[in-house]
Amino acid sequence: MNILSIETSCDETAISVLECTGDTSGATFTVLGDALYSQAHLHAEYGGVFPTLAKREHIKNLPTLLEQVRKAADGVELIAVTQGPGLEPALWTGIEFAKKLGQEWGVPVYGTDHMEGHIVSGMVTGGPDTYALGNIEFPVLGLLISGGHTELVLMKKWFEYELIGKTKDDAVGEAFDKVARMLGLEYPGGPKIEALHKKATERNATHDIVFPRPLIHEDSCDFSFSGLKTAVLYKLKKMEQLTEEDKEHVAQAFQDAARDVIVAKTKKALEETGARTLAVGGGVSASRDIRRGLEELIAAEFSDVHLAYPAGKLHLDNSIMIGMAAYLRHSAGLPGNELKAEGAQRLASR
Ligand code: KG4
Ligand code: ZN
Repeated sequence: MNILSIETSCDETAISVLECTGDTSGATFTVLGDALYSQAHLHAEYGGVFPTLAKREHIKNLPTLLEQVRKAADGVELIAVTQGPGLEPALWTGIEFAKKLGQEWGVPVYGTDHMEGHIVSGMVTGGPDTYALGNIEFPVLGLLISGGHTELVLMKKWFEYELIGKTKDDAVGEAFDKVARMLGLEYPGGPKIEALHKKATERNATHDIVFPRPLIHEDSCDFSFSGLKTAVLYKLKKMEQLTEEDKEHVAQAFQDAARDVIVAKTKKALEETGARTLAVGGGVSASRDIRRGLEELIAAEFSDVHLAYPAGKLHLDNSIMIGMAAYLRHSAGLPGNELKAEGAQRLASR
C-alpha cells in the first residue's frame, strides 16, 4: 500500500510517499518521495517556535513540497496526517491540506499521533531509502525526548500504552533551547550545546561548575528540568563577562546533568517494567552524548534489552515516521485518529 504522509506539528513542514508492505510482525517501507522544509532558522530569533509564523510557513510550503513528491504519489491509497500533539494552529494547516487532497484524489485521510511516529522511528532500521521493521520484542519502553515532550511510555503490545514517567515542567529539549538562549545561542539550542560540551570534553576542561540533577533520587520515573534551567540562569548571573571557555563549561555541566537524569530515569523504568526493547525517539535523541549514556547503561546492566535508536535521519521531526506509524496501525485494522488538532494529545495518561 502506498501512503502519502504529512507532518506540520511544529516547525518542520514535511510530506513523504512510502510504499509499505507487511504488518506489525515485520514491515518494509520504501521511500518513493520525501520533501522536508525546516523553518528552524526563521524561529531562531524568538528562541523557540513562534506558532503564528509556523502556521503561515506551513500554509506557504505545503503546496511546494507536494509538488516535489507529486510524481511519486500516483497510486497513493491513504493520506496520513499528524493531528497531535503539537502547536494547534500548525496542526490544523496539515489537517486541512490533507482533507482537501483526500477529497480531490478520492483517498481516505488517516489521523496519526506524532509521538507514535517518534516511537516507530526508533523501532525501524535502515534508511534513507528503505526502512525495515523487524520482529520487536515486547514490552517496549519508549523514551521520548523532544522539544515538547519528555516521557517514558510502556508499550505492552502494539498500540497499547501506559505512562511510566513524564516531565513535571519543561521538556528536556526545551531546557536545551532555553539554556542555549541564555548563552546567546540561537534556536534550536540542542546541537549548539552539544558542540560546546564536546569542545570542553575534548580539551579535558577543568572547572567546578556542577548543576543539580532534579528528582534523580526520587522514587518515580518523572522528570523535572525547570530547576536545572534556573540553576544555570543563577550561575550565569554570578559569572561576569562570559568567555568562550566559560560557555563551554556551562554547556558541559548542563548537558552532563540532563544526560545523567535521563539515563537514571530510564534505568529505573527498565527495572520497573522489565521491558525487552528500549526505543528512543524525538529530537534530543540526536545527542551523541545521551546516546552514549544509554548505550553504557544497557551494556552494563541490561545486556538482554535491545536498544533501538532512530534510523538514518529520523531523529528530528519528519513525515516518514508518520507514514510508517499510520501504516502499521492501519495494517492492524485500527481506525485513524479523529481529524481534529489535539495540541496536548497523549499516548497514555495515568
Ligand atoms: O522532535 P523534535 O524535532 O521536535 C519536537 O517534536 O519537539 O525535537 C526538537 C528538539 C529541540 O529542542 C532541539 O534543541 C533538540 O530537539 N535537539 C537536541 C539535539 N538536536 C536537537 N538536543 C540535544 N542534543 C542534540 N544534538
Ligand atoms: Zn517531534
